[in-house]
Amino acid sequence: MSRTALITGITGQDGSYLAELLIGKGYLVHGLVRRCSTFSTSRIDHLYRDSHEEHGRLYLHFGDMTDGQALTNLVLQIQPDEIYNLAAQSHVRVSFEQPVYTVMCDAVGALHILEAARLLNESKPVRFYQASSSEMFGDAIETPQTESTPFNPQSPYACAKAYAHFQTVNYRRSYQLFACSGILFNHESPRRGETFVTRKITRAATRIKMGLQQRLYLGNLEARRDWGYAQDYVDAMWRMLQQESADDYVIATGTSYSVREFLEIAFGLLDLRWQDYVEIDPKYKRPSEVNSLLGDASKARQALGWQASTGVNELVKIMIDHDLELAKQEKQLESSRANAKLPT
Ligand code: NAP
Ligand code: GDD
Repeated sequence: MSRTALITGITGQDGSYLAELLIGKGYLVHGLVRRCSTFSTSRIDHLYRDSHEEHGRLYLHFGDMTDGQALTNLVLQIQPDEIYNLAAQSHVRVSFEQPVYTVMCDAVGALHILEAARLLNESKPVRFYQASSSEMFGDAIETPQTESTPFNPQSPYACAKAYAHFQTVNYRRSYQLFACSGILFNHESPRRGETFVTRKITRAATRIKMGLQQRLYLGNLEARRDWGYAQDYVDAMWRMLQQESADDYVIATGTSYSVREFLEIAFGLLDLRWQDYVEIDPKYKRPSEVNSLLGDASKARQALGWQASTGVNELVKIMIDHDLELAKQEKQLESSRANAKLPT
């Protein structure tokens, strides 16, 4: 019989790749979607179209992490075997502008769904995954960071994620809930939101190449991140829930690059000099910066048989190839509009 999974945050980068993975494994996948005035399902529309009996199915439900009662009702109705809690206000700089909302969604929201899982677990075993973050290491106390590195969060987002992480551990210990926390370092893809630095760079570089944009405004170019490929990382989430016992794992590539180095690779692939186009705008700097993150995923390699398959050069190429195609389509549309002589 098919296993059933619930994914919160299914419309996001990771949610879409995870849904793809689980449907491919024959799961019935349920996803939580926020009600918006426009459709927000562009990352999963292809799954909705393609899903059919033999490959599992996808069902979407309206909901919000801030509405605990509705989440509990949904969990008890669906009776999932696995819950992946990926929903979050996930932008670190935005969390300084919306600290209370970020905590309501990322911290209290996680508690809502943990409570729902605890209730379900009283009558039917359920496994729970929490999307924890390397941001919790913040101004890191040691390098590289492992599962035992103390947290030193530097933003409302990181504080909220640390709260959710500790509650996940607490529910595992207090209620014997099979609850895992994946401490994932930055992971990117062509589906990455366009306000995160990697996608902002690959979108801008390809649009500049096609003559659609002149300049790229960025903040701190010296920050270093351990960037991996999102498709690899959702596989790690699934592996965590297939183990005999629940635990916490760092997921990372083990190499780090600066934003400046990322620019060099991305613009270099297009035969452009980034220095000719990039300007610094202080509004993209943060009140408190995380200067450097570097993960050690040895535990995941040993226990889960997981390791990153994609290095940063390959990752940037995947993103540039995808975004160059988008920029070409945009250019084509621009020419068609001009040819049609539409009044603007
Ligand atoms: P993302 O693309 O920003 O997706 C976030 C998802 O959460 C979206 O589906 C979003 O819905 C949903 N969401 C936001 N607020 C919500 C609310 N109040 N109620 C219900 N759903 C809500 O993030 P991601 O990169 O896929 O990351 C997935 C998770 O992993 C997040 O929890 C993130 O904090 C965490 N994480 C990410 C990374 C990374 O490098 N990507 C690393 C470590 C941890 P809409 O589509 O409607 O906005
Ligand atoms: N977003 C953004 N925009 N970041 C910039 C910019 C810019 O214009 N210029 C420089 N940066 C720097 C940021 O200051 C940060 O040091 C680095 O680029 C990466 O920023 P983001 O891509 O926004 O990612 P993040 O590291 O802050 O957070 C991401 O990774 C976390 C895991 O460590 C998010 O996906 C979080 O949700 C995730 O938990």
